[in-house]
Amino acid sequence: MNDNRSDPQANLHLDGKNFRLEMVAGSMGDRAVHLGKLRSETGCMAFDPGMANTAICRSAITFVDGEKGVLLHRGYAIADLVEHCSFIEVAYLLIHGTLPTLEQQQQFSRLLNIHSMLHEDMRSFFGNYPEGAHPMAVLSAMVVSLSSFYPELRLETGKEEMNITVTRLLSKLRTIAAFSYKKSIGEPFVYPSYKFSYCENFLNMMFSSPVSHYRADAYDVAIMNKLLILHADHEQNASTTAVRMVGSTGANLYACISAGICALWGALHGGANQAVVEMLERIQQQGLTVDQVVTMAKDHNDPFRLMGFGHRIYKSYDPRAKIAKQLCMAVLQKKKPNDPLVATALALEERALQDSYFQDRRLYPNVDFYTGLIYRALGFPKEMFTVLFALGRLPGWIAHWQEMHQDPEQKIMRPRQLYTGPGPLPFVPIEERS
Ligand code: SDX
Repeated sequence: MNDNRSDPQANLHLDGKNFRLEMVAGSMGDRAVHLGKLRSETGCMAFDPGMANTAICRSAITFVDGEKGVLLHRGYAIADLVEHCSFIEVAYLLIHGTLPTLEQQQQFSRLLNIHSMLHEDMRSFFGNYPEGAHPMAVLSAMVVSLSSFYPELRLETGKEEMNITVTRLLSKLRTIAAFSYKKSIGEPFVYPSYKFSYCENFLNMMFSSPVSHYRADAYDVAIMNKLLILHADHEQNASTTAVRMVGSTGANLYACISAGICALWGALHGGANQAVVEMLERIQQQGLTVDQVVTMAKDHNDPFRLMGFGHRIYKSYDPRAKIAKQLCMAVLQKKKPNDPLVATALALEERALQDSYFQDRRLYPNVDFYTGLIYRALGFPKEMFTVLFALGRLPGWIAHWQEMHQDPEQKIMRPRQLYTGPGPLPFVPIEERS
């Protein structure tokens, strides 16, 4: 709990006046100076590019301690959830706030199955995409299109309707993801089936075909569950903040999730898992040494960055990366022993962690450094890696969307700026302009 000896107020001395600002705290983690009245009382704004020092809300969903490498979902440690839960259990935990009883989980799974099909009219949307369309483009477009087929979630909607809408989205995103892959390889869609669990259904829709007797390997299903749990939520990251920002205008859930998918796509965020494997392949193709790569990463005149390294919050080893590294070693040993990309990744991590540039800046592997190698060993193409990140992150986005709408302090997000442009200028008619 917070140290209750800390000062309940902060003093701001400005223009010869003294302003007392209230200190606020959550149940764990950093305290904050409440700036809700800063401008009205002092006439000044706060300036915080990238919101690196700004808490935009109170939240009970996920706690991250970047100094100690701690990640809790509704109070449960990520290692325990990965070890003991299915992805659906963790999705239920994030969305409903408690781990489900057996009966609640069975009801949740039944709803997921009922809502796993796409409206047949949506199938034709896939046909209008060019073969090379990136699945993240398809995913975001198809998700926002769901609002054309299913009733918009009104904020005053009852719990039952909310549950159905949330479960519908959780189930259909998985189907859309698999269909976008099948479209990209010109194969017929494989429909979801009542016979399979969430992850087994997904793998079946991805890798089964009319001419194969594919049956998802129980080992792959277990790994898929763990990978989706590793991505399930991460407090106010860029894509979750995008979901909250769009949701704060009153936009419907599908539009908010579509915005989150687009924000996640960036290589600095969820797109990093694809960028890591592309980086490792480039190193191999160009015969670069680990020393050459680390030198490039440290050279600010070189746009190259060590993808999968560094994090805004973790200034220690990302606890998810620790788990992902262990999973990577086990999966690759079983499915792709002696994979040169893994050897390069391990050598890069070892070399970087010994280097003062990375040590001084407290740059460690993040969740994306090893996960792409696992997806690749499971048979997913690189273009699907960030889609898999989105599949895992969906329950987190939904939980934050719900929490925001239940938060009395929340209103439309509308940050301010420091203006640096010209003016006021006298208007010049076009005939007098030179
Ligand atoms: C995710 O926020 C979340 O929680 C995100 C996420 C989630 O679950 O939602 O955890 C998922 O997005 C993980 C991050 C995936 N992205 C990457 O792996 C891309 C590579 N990483 C970097 O681009 C960077 O580390 C960020 C974007 C992750 C964080 O950027 P910051 O916090 O803005 O840090 P910065 O760019 O200001 O860097 C600080 C210093 C700089 O050097 P100096 O100017 O001080 O000399 O560290 C250097 C940077 O040049 N640096 C790197 C580096 N990351 C930071 N140098 C080389 N390689 C890197 N990867």
